Amino acid sequence: MFSHKLSDNLYYVGVNDRKTQLFERMIPLPYGVSYNSYLLVDEKVVLFDTVENSFAEHSLEKIKFALEGRKIDYLVIHHLEPDHTSGIKAYLTQYPDLQIVCNKKAAEMLNGFYSISQNLLIVEENQELPIGKHVLRFIFAPMVHWPEVMMSYEKTEKVLFSADAFGCFGTLDGAVEDSKLNIEKYIGEMYRYYVNIIGKYGLPVQKTLQKLTDIQIDTICSLHGPVWRKHIEKVVGIYNQLSKYEGENGVVIVYGSMYSHTEAMAEVVARGVAEITPNVILHDVSKSDISQIITDCFRYKGLIIGSPTYNGNLFPEVSQVLDKLELRTLKNRIFASFGCYTWAGQSVRLLNAFSEKMQYENVGSAEVKQAMQKADYEIFYNLGKEVAGKVR
Ligand SMILES: Cc1cc2nc3c(=O)[nH]c(=O)nc-3n(C[C@H](O)[C@H](O)[C@H](O)COP(=O)(O)O)c2cc1C
Ligand SMILES: [Fe+2]
Ligand SMILES: [Fe+2]
Repeated sequence: MFSHKLSDNLYYVGVNDRKTQLFERMIPLPYGVSYNSYLLVDEKVVLFDTVENSFAEHSLEKIKFALEGRKIDYLVIHHLEPDHTSGIKAYLTQYPDLQIVCNKKAAEMLNGFYSISQNLLIVEENQELPIGKHVLRFIFAPMVHWPEVMMSYEKTEKVLFSADAFGCFGTLDGAVEDSKLNIEKYIGEMYRYYVNIIGKYGLPVQKTLQKLTDIQIDTICSLHGPVWRKHIEKVVGIYNQLSKYEGENGVVIVYGSMYSHTEAMAEVVARGVAEITPNVILHDVSKSDISQIITDCFRYKGLIIGSPTYNGNLFPEVSQVLDKLELRTLKNRIFASFGCYTWAGQSVRLLNAFSEKMQYENVGSAEVKQAMQKADYEIFYNLGKEVAGKVR
């Protein structure tokens, strides 16, 4: 059971989860997910985070192999979410003398979740912990997923243990460092991870990125996905873009349709967009996975939503998308809407109300009773073109 060596003193001892279908029982994992854990071996031995319960023994075997009989002195806990802590009892059984290093908020949660309140070293923001020739400094990152989240910066090797930040879905197949992996899949999964897990907390992410600006970072050890060395600038850039709710040049068209009338409108709108930019993505809410729909909505600046009127309301799956965007406070979009009805239209009115609530720049809307007529084509085409023009 080999652990990956990241430097003379640093080991990767995390695990790959290829079994779980839905992260947080909601978000599909087509490429699986890794729960990362790291070991720093110096005068003291430090373990950074544990793993999900069903993988704890596997990680402990890797640790044992790397330690060659030595014991863990400190377990640094950066984040209490159970994907990283539910296995903690197994570690304490194997290494009963280890001291848990965490902040006050984490200590409360540790007690609440696991009744663990002994052998804790409670640290403050910016406190340093020498462990030999390596020194850790703790950087708090509240709400870069949960309120207790903190990061550790190791000064000698310039490693940032970043908790969930800069993490992504996708198992680590054969290697753990970005330079040894084809990163394309992880980058796509980073967008999806950020939007679905952290999306609401743009402001806290921005505050944390500010704290990191004046430190030299050579390695990022996140809790999910590759160890970043070669592509640090790229992944920090993605977090910066998304947390500022800054959209790229492109338009996402999200529509629901029972009998294809709304879909036909979406096709015409897309043609108008494509006149201006090739970056046009259509999502049928009944087919596309919602975690990917909202990811693309975060990624691109233009957002056009279409829905038939359904029992005096929006098509329910369209409503779900709106709920998820609102829950994550997606800001700064160029918006348009379209829809149809047969006797009393409500969908376009409701879509525009959403736009107003979210303070989007609403370019316009188009609505049809029953089916589109030839004369309507130009209206839908122009709607797409206009949004694309404003986005560029
Ligand atoms: C279950 C159901 C509920 C509907 N509710 C309404 C409604 O409340 N008001 C209305 O004007 N039309 C309503 N309609 C009619 C649709 O809005 C209309 O058929 C529309 O063209 C469907 O678009 P689509 O082909 O994209 O699914 C409803 C249709 C269905 C099947
Ligand atoms: Fe988390
Ligand atoms: Fe996590």
